[in-house]
Amino acid sequence: MKPPRPTLFDFHGVPMTHIFTDDWENIKNFKARPDDILIATYPKAGTTWASYILDHLYFSQTQPDRQTSIPIHERVPFLENKKPNHPSGTDLANSMDTSPRLIKTHLPVQLVPKSFWEQECRVVYVARNAKDDAVSFFHFNRMDSVQPEPGDWNTFLQNYMDGKMVFGSWYDHVTGWWEKKQSHPKLHYMFFEDMIEDTGREIDKLCSFLGLTSTAEEKEQIRHLSQFDNMKKDDMANYSTAKVMDFKISPFMRKGKVGDWKNHFTVAQNEQFDEDYKKKMKNTTLQFRTEV
Ligand code: PPS
Repeated sequence: MKPPRPTLFDFHGVPMTHIFTDDWENIKNFKARPDDILIATYPKAGTTWASYILDHLYFSQTQPDRQTSIPIHERVPFLENKKPNHPSGTDLANSMDTSPRLIKTHLPVQLVPKSFWEQECRVVYVARNAKDDAVSFFHFNRMDSVQPEPGDWNTFLQNYMDGKMVFGSWYDHVTGWWEKKQSHPKLHYMFFEDMIEDTGREIDKLCSFLGLTSTAEEKEQIRHLSQFDNMKKDDMANYSTAKVMDFKISPFMRKGKVGDWKNHFTVAQNEQFDEDYKKKMKNTTLQFRTEV
Protein backbone atom coordinates (compact mmCIF):
# COMPACT_ATOMS: atom_id res chain seq x y z
CA MET A 1 0.00 0.00 0.00
CA LYS A 2 1.26 3.49 -0.84
CA PRO A 3 2.04 5.71 2.19
CA PRO A 4 -0.35 8.65 2.55
CA ARG A 5 0.66 11.96 0.98
CA PRO A 6 1.77 14.66 3.44
CA THR A 7 -0.43 17.64 4.20
CA LEU A 8 0.55 21.28 4.56
CA PHE A 9 0.76 23.04 7.91
CA ASP A 10 1.67 26.57 8.88
CA PHE A 11 5.34 27.01 9.74
CA HIS A 12 6.35 30.57 10.71
CA GLY A 13 3.67 31.84 8.34
CA VAL A 14 4.65 29.57 5.42
CA PRO A 15 2.86 26.37 4.35
CA MET A 16 5.28 23.47 4.73
CA THR A 17 5.42 19.69 4.99
CA HIS A 18 7.27 17.89 7.74
CA ILE A 19 10.23 16.68 5.64
CA PHE A 20 11.33 20.29 5.30
CA THR A 21 10.85 21.25 8.93
CA ASP A 22 11.82 18.11 10.89
CA ASP A 23 15.49 19.18 10.89
CA TRP A 24 14.71 22.78 11.77
CA GLU A 25 17.12 23.24 14.69
CA ASN A 26 20.03 22.12 12.51
CA ILE A 27 18.83 24.26 9.61
CA LYS A 28 18.37 27.36 11.72
CA ASN A 29 21.80 26.93 13.31
CA PHE A 30 23.53 25.86 10.10
CA LYS A 31 27.06 27.25 9.93
CA ALA A 32 27.61 28.63 6.48
CA ARG A 33 31.19 29.10 5.31
CA PRO A 34 32.19 32.33 3.56
CA ASP A 35 32.82 30.56 0.26
CA ASP A 36 29.51 28.64 0.26
CA ILE A 37 27.25 29.31 -2.70
CA LEU A 38 23.55 29.12 -2.04
CA ILE A 39 21.34 28.22 -5.01
CA ALA A 40 17.91 29.47 -4.03
CA THR A 41 14.69 28.98 -5.98
CA TYR A 42 10.98 28.55 -5.68
CA PRO A 43 10.31 24.88 -6.58
CA LYS A 44 10.50 24.05 -10.29
CA ALA A 45 12.25 27.26 -11.36
CA GLY A 46 15.39 25.61 -12.73
CA THR A 47 17.25 24.61 -9.57
CA THR A 48 18.71 21.45 -11.04
CA TRP A 49 19.79 23.19 -14.21
CA ALA A 50 21.59 25.97 -12.31
CA SER A 51 23.10 23.42 -9.88
CA TYR A 52 24.39 21.36 -12.77
CA ILE A 53 26.00 24.37 -14.45
CA LEU A 54 27.63 25.60 -11.24
CA ASP A 55 28.89 22.15 -10.34
CA HIS A 56 30.52 21.87 -13.77
CA LEU A 57 31.98 25.37 -13.62
CA TYR A 58 33.66 24.65 -10.31
CA PHE A 59 34.60 21.02 -10.51
CA SER A 60 34.72 19.54 -14.01
CA GLN A 61 38.37 20.45 -14.46
CA THR A 62 39.60 19.31 -11.04
CA GLN A 63 37.25 16.37 -10.31
CA PRO A 64 36.34 14.89 -13.69
CA ASP A 65 34.67 11.76 -12.20
CA ARG A 66 32.36 13.72 -9.95
CA GLN A 67 29.65 14.39 -12.53
CA THR A 68 29.58 10.82 -13.82
CA SER A 69 29.42 9.08 -10.43
CA ILE A 70 27.55 11.26 -7.91
CA PRO A 71 23.87 12.21 -8.30
CA ILE A 72 23.26 15.94 -8.46
CA HIS A 73 21.30 15.90 -5.18
CA GLU A 74 24.41 14.63 -3.39
CA ARG A 75 26.78 17.04 -5.13
CA VAL A 76 24.47 19.92 -4.23
CA PRO A 77 22.77 19.11 -0.90
CA PHE A 78 19.20 20.29 -0.41
CA LEU A 79 19.57 22.17 2.87
CA GLU A 80 16.12 21.69 4.42
CA ASN A 81 15.49 18.18 3.12
CA LYS A 82 15.07 15.41 5.70
CA LYS A 83 13.58 12.29 4.21
CA PRO A 84 13.42 9.13 6.34
CA ASN A 85 16.35 6.74 5.70
CA HIS A 86 18.37 9.42 3.91
CA PRO A 87 21.08 11.71 5.26
CA SER A 88 19.60 15.13 5.90
CA GLY A 89 20.60 18.12 3.78
CA THR A 90 22.46 19.63 6.73
CA ASP A 91 24.38 16.36 7.36
CA LEU A 92 25.36 16.15 3.71
CA ALA A 93 26.47 19.76 3.64
CA ASN A 94 28.38 19.48 6.91
CA SER A 95 30.29 16.48 5.62
CA MET A 96 31.35 18.18 2.38
CA ASP A 97 34.95 19.18 2.00
CA THR A 98 34.75 20.91 -1.36
CA SER A 99 35.45 24.59 -1.74
CA PRO A 100 33.06 26.02 -2.48
CA ARG A 101 30.12 24.00 -1.22
CA LEU A 102 27.11 24.38 -3.49
CA ILE A 103 23.93 24.26 -1.42
CA LYS A 104 20.34 24.22 -2.67
CA THR A 105 17.37 25.74 -0.88
CA HIS A 106 13.72 26.46 -1.65
CA LEU A 107 13.24 28.47 1.54
CA PRO A 108 11.59 31.87 1.29
CA VAL A 109 14.18 34.53 2.03
CA GLN A 110 13.01 35.22 5.59
CA LEU A 111 13.63 31.58 6.64
CA VAL A 112 17.18 31.26 5.29
CA PRO A 113 19.65 30.51 8.13
CA LYS A 114 21.22 33.78 9.23
CA SER A 115 24.79 32.55 8.89
CA PHE A 116 24.51 32.80 5.08
CA TRP A 117 24.00 36.56 5.49
CA GLU A 118 26.57 36.92 8.28
CA GLN A 119 29.19 35.16 6.18
CA GLU A 120 28.20 37.24 3.14
CA CYS A 121 27.87 34.14 0.98
CA ARG A 122 27.18 34.42 -2.70
CA VAL A 123 23.61 33.54 -3.64
CA VAL A 124 22.30 32.54 -7.06
CA TYR A 125 18.52 32.92 -7.21
CA VAL A 126 16.67 31.47 -10.20
CA ALA A 127 13.11 32.59 -10.92
CA ARG A 128 10.65 31.24 -13.47
CA ASN A 129 7.41 32.74 -14.70
CA ALA A 130 4.46 31.70 -12.56
CA LYS A 131 2.43 30.06 -15.31
CA ASP A 132 5.10 27.60 -16.40
CA ASP A 133 6.21 27.15 -12.82
CA ALA A 134 2.68 26.17 -11.77
CA VAL A 135 2.40 23.63 -14.60
CA SER A 136 5.76 22.09 -13.73
CA PHE A 137 4.87 21.99 -10.02
CA PHE A 138 1.54 20.30 -10.80
CA HIS A 139 3.19 17.48 -12.74
CA PHE A 140 5.90 17.17 -10.09
CA ASN A 141 3.34 16.77 -7.30
CA ARG A 142 1.57 14.10 -9.32
CA MET A 143 4.70 11.98 -9.52
CA ASP A 144 6.60 12.72 -6.29
CA SER A 145 5.05 10.74 -3.43
CA VAL A 146 6.49 13.01 -0.73
CA GLN A 147 4.62 16.02 -2.09
CA PRO A 148 1.03 16.84 -1.11
CA GLU A 149 -1.70 15.44 -3.35
CA PRO A 150 -2.10 17.98 -6.18
CA GLY A 151 -5.78 17.29 -6.98
CA ASP A 152 -6.92 18.12 -10.49
CA TRP A 153 -5.32 20.95 -12.49
CA ASN A 154 -8.04 23.47 -11.72
CA THR A 155 -7.82 22.81 -7.97
CA PHE A 156 -4.04 22.94 -8.07
CA LEU A 157 -3.99 26.23 -9.97
CA GLN A 158 -6.37 27.82 -7.49
CA ASN A 159 -4.18 26.63 -4.60
CA TYR A 160 -1.11 27.97 -6.40
CA MET A 161 -2.72 31.38 -6.72
CA ASP A 162 -3.71 31.23 -3.05
CA GLY A 163 -0.15 30.38 -2.00
CA LYS A 164 -1.23 26.99 -0.62
CA MET A 165 1.94 25.28 -1.79
CA VAL A 166 4.98 23.81 -0.06
CA PHE A 167 7.36 26.77 0.51
CA GLY A 168 4.41 29.12 0.28
CA SER A 169 3.35 31.62 -2.32
CA TRP A 170 5.32 31.98 -5.57
CA TYR A 171 4.46 35.70 -5.50
CA ASP A 172 5.95 36.23 -2.03
CA HIS A 173 8.98 34.07 -2.82
CA VAL A 174 10.11 35.78 -6.02
CA THR A 175 9.42 39.29 -4.71
CA GLY A 176 10.98 38.60 -1.28
CA TRP A 177 14.23 37.49 -2.90
CA TRP A 178 14.07 40.38 -5.38
CA GLU A 179 13.93 42.84 -2.49
CA LYS A 180 16.81 41.06 -0.76
CA LYS A 181 18.97 41.78 -3.79
CA GLN A 182 18.81 45.46 -2.86
CA SER A 183 20.50 44.90 0.52
CA HIS A 184 22.69 41.90 -0.35
CA PRO A 185 24.84 42.76 -3.38
CA LYS A 186 26.23 39.24 -3.56
CA LEU A 187 22.90 37.97 -4.91
CA HIS A 188 22.67 37.14 -8.60
CA TYR A 189 19.00 37.02 -9.65
CA MET A 190 18.49 35.12 -12.87
CA PHE A 191 15.57 33.86 -14.93
CA PHE A 192 14.72 30.45 -16.40
CA GLU A 193 13.43 32.18 -19.53
CA ASP A 194 16.82 33.87 -20.08
CA MET A 195 18.57 30.53 -19.68
CA ILE A 196 16.32 29.04 -22.35
CA GLU A 197 16.87 32.01 -24.64
CA ASP A 198 20.66 32.02 -24.41
CA THR A 199 22.30 29.59 -22.00
CA GLY A 200 25.81 30.69 -23.01
CA ARG A 201 25.09 34.32 -22.16
CA GLU A 202 23.72 33.31 -18.74
CA ILE A 203 26.80 31.16 -18.06
CA ASP A 204 28.97 34.20 -18.88
CA LYS A 205 26.98 36.30 -16.41
CA LEU A 206 27.34 33.62 -13.75
CA CYS A 207 31.10 33.49 -14.29
CA SER A 208 31.42 37.21 -13.92
CA PHE A 209 29.30 37.20 -10.73
CA LEU A 210 31.34 34.34 -9.29
CA GLY A 211 34.71 35.70 -10.41
CA LEU A 212 35.44 32.59 -12.48
CA THR A 213 37.86 32.61 -15.37
CA SER A 214 36.66 29.52 -17.24
CA THR A 215 37.85 29.41 -20.84
CA ALA A 216 35.49 29.88 -23.78
CA GLU A 217 35.97 26.20 -24.59
CA GLU A 218 35.07 25.08 -21.06
CA LYS A 219 31.98 27.27 -21.05
CA GLU A 220 30.87 25.99 -24.42
CA GLN A 221 31.28 22.40 -23.23
CA ILE A 222 29.14 23.15 -20.13
CA ARG A 223 26.52 24.91 -22.24
CA HIS A 224 26.31 21.87 -24.47
CA LEU A 225 26.13 19.34 -21.62
CA SER A 226 23.48 21.36 -19.81
CA GLN A 227 21.02 21.39 -22.71
CA PHE A 228 17.73 19.71 -21.78
CA ASP A 229 18.12 16.62 -23.97
CA ASN A 230 21.60 15.94 -22.63
CA MET A 231 20.68 16.41 -18.99
CA LYS A 232 17.58 14.27 -19.47
CA LYS A 233 19.80 11.38 -20.55
CA ASP A 234 22.23 11.86 -17.66
CA ASP A 235 21.27 9.52 -14.81
CA MET A 236 23.36 11.58 -12.39
CA ALA A 237 21.29 14.68 -13.20
CA ASN A 238 17.80 13.47 -14.13
CA TYR A 239 16.71 12.17 -10.70
CA SER A 240 16.20 8.63 -12.03
CA THR A 241 17.90 7.45 -8.81
CA ALA A 242 15.20 9.07 -6.62
CA LYS A 243 12.86 6.32 -5.42
CA VAL A 244 10.03 8.64 -4.37
CA MET A 245 9.48 9.81 -7.96
CA ASP A 246 7.37 7.80 -10.41
CA PHE A 247 8.54 8.71 -13.90
CA LYS A 248 5.73 6.60 -15.39
CA ILE A 249 3.40 9.35 -14.17
CA SER A 250 5.68 12.23 -15.24
CA PRO A 251 9.48 12.46 -15.62
CA PHE A 252 11.50 14.95 -13.59
CA MET A 253 13.02 16.30 -16.82
CA ARG A 254 9.58 16.78 -18.31
CA LYS A 255 9.60 19.38 -21.11
CA GLY A 256 12.05 22.11 -20.16
CA LYS A 257 10.28 24.81 -22.15
CA VAL A 258 8.89 28.30 -21.83
CA GLY A 259 5.21 28.47 -22.75
CA ASP A 260 3.98 24.97 -21.90
CA TRP A 261 1.36 26.75 -19.77
CA LYS A 262 -0.56 27.34 -23.01
CA ASN A 263 -1.23 23.60 -23.17
CA HIS A 264 -2.77 23.65 -19.68
CA PHE A 265 -4.53 26.95 -18.99
CA THR A 266 -8.04 27.37 -20.33
CA VAL A 267 -8.98 30.84 -21.60
CA ALA A 268 -11.00 31.43 -18.42
CA GLN A 269 -8.19 30.24 -16.14
CA ASN A 270 -5.74 32.49 -17.96
CA GLU A 271 -7.94 35.56 -17.59
CA GLN A 272 -8.53 34.90 -13.92
CA PHE A 273 -4.83 34.26 -13.35
CA ASP A 274 -3.76 37.46 -15.13
CA GLU A 275 -6.21 39.57 -13.18
CA ASP A 276 -5.10 38.12 -9.87
CA TYR A 277 -1.41 38.39 -10.90
CA LYS A 278 -1.71 42.13 -11.54
CA LYS A 279 -3.03 42.67 -8.02
CA LYS A 280 -0.43 40.49 -6.33
CA MET A 281 2.53 41.92 -8.29
CA LYS A 282 1.48 45.57 -8.40
CA ASN A 283 4.11 46.78 -5.93
CA THR A 284 7.18 45.22 -7.49
CA THR A 285 9.50 46.15 -10.34
CA LEU A 286 10.08 42.46 -11.04
CA GLN A 287 9.06 41.44 -14.57
CA PHE A 288 8.66 37.99 -16.10
CA ARG A 289 8.32 36.70 -19.62
CA THR A 290 5.81 33.93 -20.31
CA GLU A 291 7.16 33.36 -23.81
CA VAL A 292 10.53 33.87 -25.44
S1 PPS B 1 13.01 21.16 -8.15
O1 PPS B 1 12.29 19.88 -7.89
O2 PPS B 1 12.28 22.29 -7.56
O3 PPS B 1 14.40 21.12 -7.74
O4 PPS B 1 12.91 21.33 -9.73
P1 PPS B 1 13.77 22.33 -10.61
O5 PPS B 1 15.06 21.70 -10.96
O6 PPS B 1 13.81 23.67 -9.98
O7 PPS B 1 12.87 22.48 -11.91
C1 PPS B 1 12.56 21.41 -12.77
C2 PPS B 1 12.13 22.03 -14.08
O8 PPS B 1 13.31 22.51 -14.77
C3 PPS B 1 13.39 21.85 -16.03
N1 PPS B 1 14.80 21.68 -16.42
C4 PPS B 1 15.31 22.17 -17.55
N2 PPS B 1 14.76 22.90 -18.53
C5 PPS B 1 15.54 23.22 -19.59
N3 PPS B 1 16.83 22.82 -19.71
C6 PPS B 1 17.43 22.10 -18.74
N4 PPS B 1 18.68 21.72 -18.87
C7 PPS B 1 16.66 21.74 -17.59
N5 PPS B 1 16.91 21.03 -16.46
C8 PPS B 1 15.75 21.01 -15.77
C9 PPS B 1 12.66 20.53 -15.80
O9 PPS B 1 12.36 19.90 -17.01
C10 PPS B 1 11.46 21.02 -15.02
O10 PPS B 1 10.57 21.81 -15.81
P2 PPS B 1 9.32 21.20 -16.63
O11 PPS B 1 8.59 22.39 -17.16
O12 PPS B 1 8.49 20.42 -15.67
O13 PPS B 1 9.90 20.36 -17.73
